[in-house]
Amino acid sequence: MARVIELTLNGRQRLDAVADNLLLLDYLRERVGLTGTKTGCDGGECGACTVLVDDTPRLSCLTLAATVSGRRVDTVEALGEGGALSAVQRGFHEKLGSQCGYCTPGFIMACAGLLRRNPQPSEEEIRAALGSNICRCTGYVKIIEAVEFASGLLSQGVARP
Ligand code: FES
Ligand code: FES
Repeated sequence: MARVIELTLNGRQRLDAVADNLLLLDYLRERVGLTGTKTGCDGGECGACTVLVDDTPRLSCLTLAATVSGRRVDTVEALGEGGALSAVQRGFHEKLGSQCGYCTPGFIMACAGLLRRNPQPSEEEIRAALGSNICRCTGYVKIIEAVEFASGLLSQGVARP
């Protein structure tokens, strides 16, 4: 079975016919061509596929595209404006929160979701918010520092999450 979905994807309205069993991850990467969202474990274990649905982090490998009809979906491609990095992207850049980079889009979206809800999170809240994301390279300390740096930019009002 297929159905028509209407959503706001990275700020733009879209109307698409999708199969009932099409995963949001495959819709984004293969139908729309937004390959910033990564396929990792493909089973809800790594967080590489994290996107925001109505500002809440969701694992797109466990989400059916049909269920986001009427919702607002943001991928890593939505961040930054006019060539300027978002606060979280600047944090990862300044604090070297990325090494091989494969996990980075998922982490960045999970961090963006956290900071949209809570612009000044404690370290404990940051660790809890990133509990579904796995990185094989960084050891996580740099990632925590990246979120704290981003939070500082938000408090100065010089960037958006
Ligand atoms: S690819 Fe979705 S959690 Fe790993
Ligand atoms: S930077 Fe390599 S897996 Fe995270």
